[in-house]
Amino acid sequence: MHITHLSLENFRNYGRLELNFPLGATLLHGENAQGKTNLLEALTYLATTRSPHAGQDSQMLNWDMVSSPDPVIVGRLTAAIATKEGIRRVQMRLIREQKERGQVSFRREALINGRKVRLMDMLGQLQVVLFLPEDVNLITGAPNMRRRYLNVMLCQIDRHYCRNLSQYNKVLEQRNATLRRLAEGQDNPEILAIFSERLVELGSQIYARRAAFFAEISRDTQRIHYEELTGGRESLRIGYLPRLQVGQNGNDKETAVALAGWLDEHRGDLETVSQRFAGELASSYEADIARGATNIGPHRDDWCFWINGHLLSDYGSRGQQRSAMLAMKMAEIEWMSRLSGETPILLLDEVLAELDQQRRELLLRTVQSVEQAILTATDPGMFSSDFLEKATSMTVSGGRVQVDSSS
Ligand SMILES: Nc1ncnc2c1ncn2[C@@H]1O[C@H](COP(=O)(O)OP(=O)(O)OP(=O)(O)O)[C@@H](O)[C@H]1O
Ligand SMILES: [Mg+2]
Repeated sequence: MHITHLSLENFRNYGRLELNFPLGATLLHGENAQGKTNLLEALTYLATTRSPHAGQDSQMLNWDMVSSPDPVIVGRLTAAIATKEGIRRVQMRLIREQKERGQVSFRREALINGRKVRLMDMLGQLQVVLFLPEDVNLITGAPNMRRRYLNVMLCQIDRHYCRNLSQYNKVLEQRNATLRRLAEGQDNPEILAIFSERLVELGSQIYARRAAFFAEISRDTQRIHYEELTGGRESLRIGYLPRLQVGQNGNDKETAVALAGWLDEHRGDLETVSQRFAGELASSYEADIARGATNIGPHRDDWCFWINGHLLSDYGSRGQQRSAMLAMKMAEIEWMSRLSGETPILLLDEVLAELDQQRRELLLRTVQSVEQAILTATDPGMFSSDFLEKATSMTVSGGRVQVDSSS
């Protein structure tokens, strides 16, 4: 797929923007703080209904508007996307309303071809793979960041997974609230049993889908890393670390790896996965009551990389960590294309500066091989003249974008 037009209204430093995008590679260049990253953020937001940067959605509204006396401020992001099935128009609206007595409420709306839809229905309409320099922090960061990354990726491809996940999170909250009431001698255990049963039903499907995902992605990640990034010197393994056993500790990778192997073997048999999850959840009762929270389940899953058998987060150099993430992202492009029948749009924010010559060349080859890629850079001099000749260059300055005359 590719995006043909983007229009922004009151989004970050863009008061108003109407921009056509060509096929192939587009290079957005300009000085610092001009709006390059904001543009990629807008596209990612349309694709995933989330900002890739942590923080509140309301922060994306143009701040000059926010300080205006207008009681209703609407931010609008609209894209026209060309797919194999024709042109599709997707829109996200960010609405801030000033209520009586100074109260403020914030709402989001999603529209496809002019019709309001649930936010979840937006996922997959626009598929992107985003490369950020800070991606590398995922490897050493907290597990919730890695889970989020996994979920955003899977949700773009698998709506069923996303629905399960959203329901699972709701049931989890209800179960945890019940646990806390039970600890205080309120509520009754039958209520807990109802939530536990539902949690098992939804959670088992999440385990199975994640196990399948890691099986699907790991071979390509391994091959790209081994053959194309390290010239056969380093072997990379990517591992799913499910939390499915009572008393399991996040540092105990061996147990998690064994559980991942078991899940991979049984992912086609949801009944068996459910039985195991239900049994472990029952055994976790005392610990759950004591903590006032559910100790096991896919909400505590994790994943990691090993390089030549060593844990990359603990032993890898920064460069090795960067290469692993790069290999995984490249594998994601293949994975998404294979599953959805559409090539995702690549969004690369200032990533070239971080890479050595060999990795730069590989990435640029990939960029040139996909239907559409949008890159940002403060310094276009980093790109080869061959690349610049083929790409469309645009200058970003103070929230305005202009196609360079030579393009
Ligand atoms: N809600 C907002 N309203 C208006 N402006 C904002 C808002 N949020 C961020 N900005 C501003 O947008 C500008 C551009 O940010 P952006 O991150 O896109 O810059 P950039 O071109 O990628 O720069 P760099 O080269 O430094 O990465 C910044 O000056 C920032 O302060
Ligand atoms: Mg930037």
